[in-house]
Amino acid sequence: MSLVALDIDSVRARFSALRAPTAFFDGSGGTQVPDSVIDAIAGYLRESNANLGGAFGSSRRTDALLTEARLTAAAFLACDPDETIFGANMTTLNFALTRAVGRTLREGDEILVTKLDHDGNVSPWLELAHDLGLKVGFVEIADDTTLDYDDLERKLTDRTRVVAYTLASNAVGTLTDARRIAELAHGAGALTWIDAVHYGPHAPIDVNELKADVLLCSPYKYFGPHLGLATVRTELAAQWRTYKVRPATHRFETGTLAHELLAGFVAAVEYIESIGWPAIQTQERALGQQFLDGLPERCTLFGLPTMEGRVPTFAFTVDGHSPRAVAEHLGARDIAVWDGDYYAVEVMQRLGLTDGGAVRAGLVHYNTAAEVDRLLGALDEL
Ligand SMILES: Cc1ncc(COP(=O)(O)O)c(C=O)c1O
Repeated sequence: MSLVALDIDSVRARFSALRAPTAFFDGSGGTQVPDSVIDAIAGYLRESNANLGGAFGSSRRTDALLTEARLTAAAFLACDPDETIFGANMTTLNFALTRAVGRTLREGDEILVTKLDHDGNVSPWLELAHDLGLKVGFVEIADDTTLDYDDLERKLTDRTRVVAYTLASNAVGTLTDARRIAELAHGAGALTWIDAVHYGPHAPIDVNELKADVLLCSPYKYFGPHLGLATVRTELAAQWRTYKVRPATHRFETGTLAHELLAGFVAAVEYIESIGWPAIQTQERALGQQFLDGLPERCTLFGLPTMEGRVPTFAFTVDGHSPRAVAEHLGARDIAVWDGDYYAVEVMQRLGLTDGGAVRAGLVHYNTAAEVDRLLGALDEL
């Protein structure tokens, strides 16, 4: 990774929300958005609000916006514009996509999910299994929260049709070796079904490099509006009969999209491009290391203890205090963190964090060293 310094003051000046005294470490649940995203959404509603396909200006502009949003999404994911699918959020898209592939599956077919995954890439399979008589297997994780690749290999069979996995854990920040999983899955004749939601704000996504058959993410996690985005390989999508109304031309998008949010999405990707991944990653790594170096002794970190193999999302507990009490202590000092299980049901169970979960500080590039100091200082008070 090349070291490119981030001009943090000029970055933060682009977000009205960051003028508040709050230190936002809640980005894993959704990041703040730059003003350019807000302006794009408002601008669309002011000047171009319409449905598609009309013979008048605002509708033509909406057609053009949808084309631009597809081109932007395709560039962001390194897929074809026709392979982009917009929807309400990742989970809603995943229920729709899993139901579509379900029409190609039969009783006894097997799906593998991982214990590192958010439930958005687990429960859609459990529900499909309930309807179709499929078997769902859970790939284990090691004590250090890395995926157990030997267990994955052991659990793959000639009936495995899909391996569903995340690129990064939204609970403990651990990255997976996505290339390795794809090789194993494809070697067994299974599809790769990738959750890139938590990875989205931290690194570029390339569906070809990942060998993704299906990939889902959520622009609201990477400085955009509340929206979901997915991609399915063309040859694969062509084989599925999807649930849609007859006149619709898109195979997966049902009904009218949130056009104003597509305008916000385009602006969010422009924002990321204007900063650049190297600068984002340099800042995240420095902040993450600062957090790890300064975590008070009374705190127990769950997950990898260095910045290798992880994103700067940290789950921890504080001796003698419930996660909720810690979050409240921090909240009272204008420091936003999450507590609970953040829908990462399996990993929390595996780590024994079933009573209130853990505190989660999710750092992104717009956080500052001074904010991390504030967080560490406030934890020290406990
Ligand atoms: C890793 C991961 N996957 C899936 C989801 C669900 O995303 P959405 O809220 O877009 O349905 C989340 C949300 O926190 C997540 O962190």
